[in-house]
Amino acid sequence: MRILILCTGNSCRSQMAEGVLRSLNPEMEIFSAGTKPEKKVNPNAVTVMREINMDISSHEPTSVEAYIHQSFDFVITVCNNAKESCPVFTGKVKNRLHIGFDDPADATGTQEEVLSVYRKTRDLIKEEFTKFYNTEIKNQMENNEHLKEIVKEKYSKIANQSKVKNETSCCGSTGCCGEIDYTVFSEKYDTLKGYNSEADLGLGCGLPTEFAAIKNGNHVLDLGSGAGNDCFVAHALVGKTGQVTGLDFTDVMIKKAIKNKEKLGFRNIDFIKGDIENMPFENQMFDVVISNCVLNLVPDKQKAFSEIFRVLKNGGHFCVSDVVIKGELPEKLKNDAEIYAGCVSGAITINEYLAVIEQNNFKNTHVQKEKKIDIPFEILLNYLSLDEIEEFKNNKIGIFSITVSADKI
Ligand SMILES: C[S@@+](CC[C@H](N)C(=O)[O-])C[C@H]1O[C@@H](n2cnc3c(N)ncnc32)[C@H](O)[C@@H]1O
Repeated sequence: MRILILCTGNSCRSQMAEGVLRSLNPEMEIFSAGTKPEKKVNPNAVTVMREINMDISSHEPTSVEAYIHQSFDFVITVCNNAKESCPVFTGKVKNRLHIGFDDPADATGTQEEVLSVYRKTRDLIKEEFTKFYNTEIKNQMENNEHLKEIVKEKYSKIANQSKVKNETSCCGSTGCCGEIDYTVFSEKYDTLKGYNSEADLGLGCGLPTEFAAIKNGNHVLDLGSGAGNDCFVAHALVGKTGQVTGLDFTDVMIKKAIKNKEKLGFRNIDFIKGDIENMPFENQMFDVVISNCVLNLVPDKQKAFSEIFRVLKNGGHFCVSDVVIKGELPEKLKNDAEIYAGCVSGAITINEYLAVIEQNNFKNTHVQKEKKIDIPFEILLNYLSLDEIEEFKNNKIGIFSITVSADKI
């Protein structure tokens, strides 16, 4: 969750709000900025925040320009728009909010009288931002958790199906119209060294191992490893001295992957249960992180990439295949849980995707491969009317699979 709080000077109200939100949940990424940033944070704001054990003394006023190319879940203006002209943020934002407060810097009188005005503003900011956290943010978090439950449920079901059944699961021999063909994205794997047909459920959308520059002896992490398809290919590349770890949050997938590994008797592959947004690994454990058609399913992509950065060694890199969008998806597709689990509605635009990578301090981002994916007409018909399909096609909305790599320097 990324939140930007804006006012003019970024020395007082926005800094206090930043401190309050940070204290409510240190996991969130909170920033504040101003259109005309002051030189330092207002000392009275620092004093009254310290009284409630919130230290904002190390904050520095920052220009909004520093954030203009970044994307945020919320941008909140905190100035009093009746008296001031509030900043307008022109960058990418999911939700805009205004929670206005009078500027305590206007207070006059003795130092004690001035401080009491600051305390009043501080208490109001604390009250309003706690309310905001308990409603909007918690709602969003619950939605994200709900989406993840849907994804787990779907992939538990898919894990128990054969590749052939997956391939015919939409309007094919099983005649189950209303479900997605999860294999419209998949690539041919069978010529790759290490390929294990039992691990191939036809769920990938690229060949990340082909561009991942995996070397003998590397420790590779595969995110959303499913039944282990890419792990077995990576295993052939790391050799006997290397190691491969697959991470997945669906029990049935993990079980299936372990069974596949045991059949082959490999000792240097592990399959671990865990969430990509909160990986159960120490910092800087891996040389290479790969992933195949998974990050689109993770609601908080910022968190996913910051976790990738954390677990990579310095000098390490990632290479992931994923689904991205060009253009705007129709609302009906965006809000459909089934299509979310089928890798489409959770996908973000290619520009947003690359921006998230950059915001997480990766360097040398390189789109290695791009492939257009055509969602079959019969599938679209399950979600859209004929007119809407026509509009979908005319608006040149493109669903692409990309394979992208970047370095942690
Ligand atoms: C489309 S499948 C891809 C599986 C595998 N990469 C392959 O190509 O066969 C997505 C996988 O990601 C897993 N997954 C989705 N979101 C996850 C998350 N937040 N944390 C861990 N695993 C996740 C699902 O359980 C599922 O196994």
